Amino acid sequence: MKSKVLALSLGAAVFSFGAMSNAFADGAALFQAKGCAGCHGAGGNAPVMPVYPKLAGQNEQYLLQQMKDIKSGARSNGQAAVMKGVIANVSDAEMAEIAKYLAGAK
Ligand code: HEC
Repeated sequence: MKSKVLALSLGAAVFSFGAMSNAFADGAALFQAKGCAGCHGAGGNAPVMPVYPKLAGQNEQYLLQQMKDIKSGARSNGQAAVMKGVIANVSDAEMAEIAKYLAGAK
């Protein structure tokens, strides 16, 4: 009985750790896989053009809202058009993962 309880709680600990590190890794992996780094640079902090924004360390809620607005067209100022085609292939859930990752990135 005692060992069964131990096995169960160990399993839960491993599972929650896995879920946490996945959430972080997913945002980072998505940022690469979706081509974001191609313009915003590695880690979102080394844009390839001076008019492209740095993203790392920005507030999570703000980042998510900007991505949604650029995707929907609500934000179309400045250079937003160059990003629209890219963000069109990113789901709301993926944007949330990326926003979480970028907010925590340096
Ligand atoms: C072709 C280049 C390009 C690619 C690829 C690109 N972006 Fe952008 N992104 C831009 C530009 C340019 C802007 C600024 C638009 C403007 O001038 O208002 C921007 C703005 C943003 C903003 C708003 C920043 C702010 O401070 O308001 C976020 C967030 C963002 N991009 C995230 C992403 C993510 C996530 C991806 C990948 C899915 C991505 N971008 C791919 C060029 C790009």
